[in-house]
Amino acid sequence: MNRRRRIYEGKAKILYEGPEPGTLIQHFKDDATAFNNKKHEIVDGKGVLNNRISEFVFNNLNAIGIPTHFIRRMNMREQLIREVEIIPLEVVVRNVAAGSIAKRLGLEEGTQLPRSIIEFYYKNDELDDPIVAEEHVTAFGWATPQELDDIMALAIRVNDFLSGLFLGVGIRLVDFKIECGRLYEGDIMRIVVADEISPDSCRLWDINTNDKMDKDRFRRDMGGMLEAYQEVAKRLGILNENDRPMGTGPTLVQ
Ligand code: TMP
Ligand code: ASP
Repeated sequence: MNRRRRIYEGKAKILYEGPEPGTLIQHFKDDATAFNNKKHEIVDGKGVLNNRISEFVFNNLNAIGIPTHFIRRMNMREQLIREVEIIPLEVVVRNVAAGSIAKRLGLEEGTQLPRSIIEFYYKNDELDDPIVAEEHVTAFGWATPQELDDIMALAIRVNDFLSGLFLGVGIRLVDFKIECGRLYEGDIMRIVVADEISPDSCRLWDINTNDKMDKDRFRRDMGGMLEAYQEVAKRLGILNENDRPMGTGPTLVQ
C-alpha cells in the first residue's frame, strides 16, 4: 500500500498519487494535533471515523450540487479525490461564538452571533495560521476577487447544508473550517470544497446538553474524543446499518 508515491503529508492526513492522472488518494491518520502540533497524540480509530464522516458529508454536498474534490471512499482510511490546487486559506464560518473569536472579541462562548460570519486564516504553520482580511487575500494574490466571491458563496452553502444536517440529529453547528481548491477541467477552472469536513474541523454541540462532540475535547483535555466522534457518526446513521436517517447512507466499515 505504501509503495505509492507520497505527494504530501500533513498533520492528520497523507496524500498519495492516485490511480489515474488528476486523482489523489487521501489517507486519514489517527494523529490528533492542536495548537499547530504543540499538542500531539495518537487516537486509535480517529482516522477511520473521520474518513467515514467526511465521506458522508462530501457525498451529500456533491448530491446537492456543491462541487467538491471527493470521488469515493476506497477503504477504511482512504478516499479517492480529484487533484486540486489548494488555496492557502482556512475558511471559517461561525454561527455561535466559541474558540478564537470568543477570545479575540471578548464574547461569551455559546452566544449566538448576529449573523453567520466568514473569516479567513492564511495557511502557514510558521506564522500559526494568522487571521487575514479579504484585502490581504487579494493583494497577496492568494485568491482573486472573483475566486473569493466563489469561496464565500460555497462557504455559505456548506454552512446552510451542514447546519440543517446536524440540527436534524440533535447537534448545533457552532462553527467549521473548510479549504477550497482550484479544479482544472480542460479550459475551465472552478473552485471546489477540498480537504475534509469532520469533528476535527467543526465545533459540534449537543442541542440539549451543549456537550462538545468535536476536537475541543482533545484541545481542552476533556477526554472522550473518540466516543464523541462515534456518537456523531452514529447519529448521522453511519455506524449502525439499521439507523440511517438519509435512507441511502454508507454501509458498515469492515
Ligand atoms: P478557532 O475558533 O480556533 O479559530 O476555530 C474555528 C473553527 O475552525 C473550529 O471549528 C475548528 C476549526 N479549525 C480547524 O479546522 N483547523 C485549525 O487549525 C483551527 C485553528 C481551527
Ligand atoms: N489543526 C491545528 C493543529 O494541528 C489546530 C487545531 O485544530 O486546533 O495544530
